Amino acid sequence: MPLNIGKIHHGDCLTLMSQIEDGSIDLAFADPPFNIGYRYDKYHDRQEDATYLDWCRQWIGELYRILKPTGTFWLAIGDEYAAELKVAATRQLDECFIMRSWVVWYYTFGVNCKRKFNRSHAHLFQFIKDEKQFTFNAEDPLVRVPSARALVYGDSRANPTGRLPDDTWVLRPQDAPASFQSMDDTWYYSRVAGTFKERQGFHGCQMPEQLLGRIIRVSSNAGDVVFDPFTGSGTTLAVAKKLGRRYLGTELSDDYVKYATRRLKAIRPGDPLDGPADPASSSPNTANGVTLEARNRRKAAGARQGLLPLPE
Ligand SMILES: C[S@@+](CC[C@H](N)C(=O)[O-])C[C@H]1O[C@@H](n2cnc3c(N)ncnc32)[C@H](O)[C@@H]1O
Repeated sequence: MPLNIGKIHHGDCLTLMSQIEDGSIDLAFADPPFNIGYRYDKYHDRQEDATYLDWCRQWIGELYRILKPTGTFWLAIGDEYAAELKVAATRQLDECFIMRSWVVWYYTFGVNCKRKFNRSHAHLFQFIKDEKQFTFNAEDPLVRVPSARALVYGDSRANPTGRLPDDTWVLRPQDAPASFQSMDDTWYYSRVAGTFKERQGFHGCQMPEQLLGRIIRVSSNAGDVVFDPFTGSGTTLAVAKKLGRRYLGTELSDDYVKYATRRLKAIRPGDPLDGPADPASSSPNTANGVTLEARNRRKAAGARQGLLPLPE
């Protein structure tokens, strides 16, 4: 029996995908377990390399089968298996994907490490089946931002399609707004940290809605079918619904299915996406920020005059 659209199906994605018709999905987004020992409620995220890679090849192959010839598959993956999964998807299937973009998602609020640099990125691969026919809505104004030339220098010769990225380290994106343009393949969105309003609270790997917003806007059109084999907290499907796409997902955990379904029910098409659309300019840059010294001075003065302190 074919899987219903507009629903999160509970169970193993491979088993459930076998019920999806060939060539019926416009866009698939997969954020699988990264095989790094993360704690999920049902899935054990520490498999032998060969077992994990073989499993990935199987569900990537299934995604190939269910995608339309014009469809797009976006994969989120960590450093550990990025190279292997790129090779799996583009070389090791009966019919292989073509890689179109290798995007680096640069995030803040990662885990603090003691004897190595903190990890602040994951990889986002855009795979297609047909180089001549696939959705890429480069003209969507919500996908684009003004080029650095236009934004920083007001230059009328500015290329409206953006520019190649620099290979420069940036300490805080707010201090270099020209470095994180949406047409570049380094994207900046914060992780959904513990205190964020957007956080659903039942899943530790919740993706930011704005990141999915860019992917869904650029790689699908209103009414298209968006599929997520690893639904988790339901971010992909929530954003698809907000943006007027049809959606379906699969998820191993019955609890995640229950809570993500509740999240989807509360959403109406057209609802705004959670989180700041432009995180680089949503917080003050260093020059306009508040130093600790100034904050303490203000606190002391406020206490004397009975004023409220600055927010922490
Ligand atoms: C990294 S999380 C996805 C997070 C999601 N992108 C979000 O924004 O919340 C991976 C999810 O895959 C689920 N999962 C693991 N193995 C699965 C399988 N065989 N079939 C379906 N879901 C599975 C886990 O339970 C987990 O919720």
